[in-house]
Amino acid sequence: MPVNLSPIDKAKFVAARRAVDFVESGMRLGLGTGSTAAWMVRCLAERIQEEGLKVVGVPTSIRTAELARQLGVPLMSLDEAKWLDLTIDGADEIDPDLNLIKGGGAALLQEKIVATASDQMIVIADVAKEMVQLGAFPLPVEIIPFGWQTTKALIEETLISMDVLNHDVTLRMNGEAPLVTDGANYILDLHLKRIGSPRQLSLVLNQIPGVVENGLFIDICDKVVIGHGDGRVRVRDINSGETMDERLDLEPADNIFADLDD
Ligand code: A5P
Repeated sequence: MPVNLSPIDKAKFVAARRAVDFVESGMRLGLGTGSTAAWMVRCLAERIQEEGLKVVGVPTSIRTAELARQLGVPLMSLDEAKWLDLTIDGADEIDPDLNLIKGGGAALLQEKIVATASDQMIVIADVAKEMVQLGAFPLPVEIIPFGWQTTKALIEETLISMDVLNHDVTLRMNGEAPLVTDGANYILDLHLKRIGSPRQLSLVLNQIPGVVENGLFIDICDKVVIGHGDGRVRVRDINSGETMDERLDLEPADNIFADLDD
């Protein structure tokens, strides 16, 4: 592990490293996006290099693809793979039923397509992502640029009858211009503070013309690996109901992690 990491990065690292233990040779893997998923790609590259692990990854964003290529992780497209054994990805919020908010990194559309096309999804996160209820993190919704203000107005109107605490909707910006996703769409962030019924909200949002997909992942995640800054990890499997508490050694710096700053 790289030295001088902050406690939060140590937590992300141990979650990622533990999750990569679930990878077996021959697997086709969905590779998530974000800072925690970047640790996972590095840990995967380490196993490929040191153990000769044979896997192929389907990246969920251009930046994950770039990192994987840089580290020598073999890649293919989802169309080539068609179906995946396992996806490992981060999340912005995780509730007790393992429902998620994702899309803080603007990759929710590819992330949801890839996770849904996988036999299993493992979510990796630091402990701060665990919530009693979803909604403190703004819910990202990917929309097409055409008529985006109309789509925004329709979403605002819809939210009035939803079980949420707040109704503010903002267009995500990249400097002075709207942020454009890998799919050439825009992102609206819904500042809801509390989402009473994530399943209902997800269904209703996806009925609005102009909405491509929303960042609520309902019944998609099978397992979470939650990391702590001191090396503790908790693995929770929603299907078996099992929870395992473990501790990982925080090992000294490894060459594969050198000079990488994502
Ligand atoms: C990317 O669009 C997101 O879904 C990420 O998985 C999420 O934002 C978590 O990112 P971090 O691991 O950087 O917190």
